[in-house]
Amino acid sequence: MTQPVDTRVPATDAPAAIRPRILVVDDEPSMRDMLRIVLRRDGYDVDVASNGKEALDLLNRVAFDLLLSDIRMADVSGVDVLRAAKDANRDIVAFMMTAYASTSTAVEAMRLGAVDYFTKPFNMDELRLKVAQHLESHRLKQENVRLKRELRSKYQFSNIIGRSDAMLAVFTLVETIAKTNSTVLITGESGTGKDMVARAVHYNSLRRDYPFVALNCGAVPETLLESELFGHMRGAFTGAETNKKGLIEIAERGTVFLDEIGEMNAAMQVKLLRILQDRRFRRLGGTDEVQADIRIIAATNQDLPKLVAEGRFREDLFYRINVIPIQLPPLRDRREDIPLLAEHFLEKFASQMGKNVHSISNDAQERLAVYAWPGNVRELENVMERAVAIEQTPVVLPETLAPHVGPGAGQEGPSATTEFEAAAPDLRSLPDLGEGFDLEAKGDEMYRHYISLALERTGGVQTKAAELLGMSFRSFRYYAKKFNIR
Ligand SMILES: Nc1ncnc2c1ncn2[C@@H]1O[C@H](COP(=O)(O)OP(=O)(O)OP(=O)(O)O)[C@@H](O)[C@H]1O
Ligand SMILES: [Mg+2]
Repeated sequence: MTQPVDTRVPATDAPAAIRPRILVVDDEPSMRDMLRIVLRRDGYDVDVASNGKEALDLLNRVAFDLLLSDIRMADVSGVDVLRAAKDANRDIVAFMMTAYASTSTAVEAMRLGAVDYFTKPFNMDELRLKVAQHLESHRLKQENVRLKRELRSKYQFSNIIGRSDAMLAVFTLVETIAKTNSTVLITGESGTGKDMVARAVHYNSLRRDYPFVALNCGAVPETLLESELFGHMRGAFTGAETNKKGLIEIAERGTVFLDEIGEMNAAMQVKLLRILQDRRFRRLGGTDEVQADIRIIAATNQDLPKLVAEGRFREDLFYRINVIPIQLPPLRDRREDIPLLAEHFLEKFASQMGKNVHSISNDAQERLAVYAWPGNVRELENVMERAVAIEQTPVVLPETLAPHVGPGAGQEGPSATTEFEAAAPDLRSLPDLGEGFDLEAKGDEMYRHYISLALERTGGVQTKAAELLGMSFRSFRYYAKKFNIR
């Protein structure tokens, strides 16, 4: 929310903003005094140190935003002061000053993270300007980090990212029901985050200090499923050489997550029903019944009511597990989440791979936005991992995305015409005519844009692209060449 600025209020009446704090280190008194006076007049808080040792003392006690240090001093060198300053605050803006333009120390200082150095005598105005510029970009960077963090905590619940209404509703629901003991049924296509939601329920519940045990009912052979869940006694079947605890016992006081519950066979369904009804079970080959204190969360990407109708899933079991249903919509039905998720995965993989890839180009964003994502969030995660791995520039470009993502394959939604319409410049947002307006440049920009777009849509087939643009192949070639489009 931006408030209109009331220009009648003098700036000094505004609540005092925190002023940047600068440390000046120089053993030459006249230089020290001059810098203090000039920088204070520019509105900074300035501390001065007359030697390296004093500087180190101050750095230990005070948090500085900017360091301005002479390199050659009698006791501790400016390079050591710089090192200490960076140890105290990795983000400190540091400038070095030297009367002896020795490139090797300057290079050393830059290597340690100084942003620039001034050779004495220097122009004071130039110094003031550089100080102001670097402090401002530092402030903007910090502001950005703060905003991103704020946004992130708002659109994140237990590491699950989402800003769509559907996902925000899921966050609220999970938070509300986590503390209960009710059985939860999570449904959604593959890769929509069912696993994550199951964990979120457990880790937000009173059972969080006890185990979360997951069993993929589809991956365990039917013959083993029962002993996996309930455990067995020695000799219960061939190969059962010792007593073994089942997952239900291992999860005591915690949560059992039954993934792909739709894959469970009829016999197991009966046993599970028993557990859900009275929380009692028997180990395979065992005689005693055991009481279990567990919460059950089930998940499936199948349509359970349909399985019930077809007689493949017990109706009574369905009602027993469907106490609290949580439905995760496919990613294509919550496209608002795509940019947030893409950025989240970008950051995750860039930091994992130690690569400086920090943003996604508009064209690439556009492709991510229109693709159908049959593999949902998991597919987006994989696409971003691949993109970060092969990207050679700091920005993810459309050509770095997997070739199937975007125009053409797997795409639904906007038709060719609406997509072209969406790409057209908004005439209302054009700058006022007259002042610096350049119709030819605007026109060129549009040609370039549409030709690239058409080529993207046709996978680079020029004749088709020309057709799409209602142009002769000849003029298409002319313009493509003129604007240097491949
Ligand atoms: N909202 C989300 N925020 C962040 N990461 C997510 C989100 N949804 C899914 N993921 C990530 O996508 C991948 C797939 O998620 P998950 O395993 O939870 O899906 P699933 O619905 O259980 O899929 P399947 O049916 O195939 O088992 C995981 O790596 C998960 O971390
Ligand atoms: Mg899963």
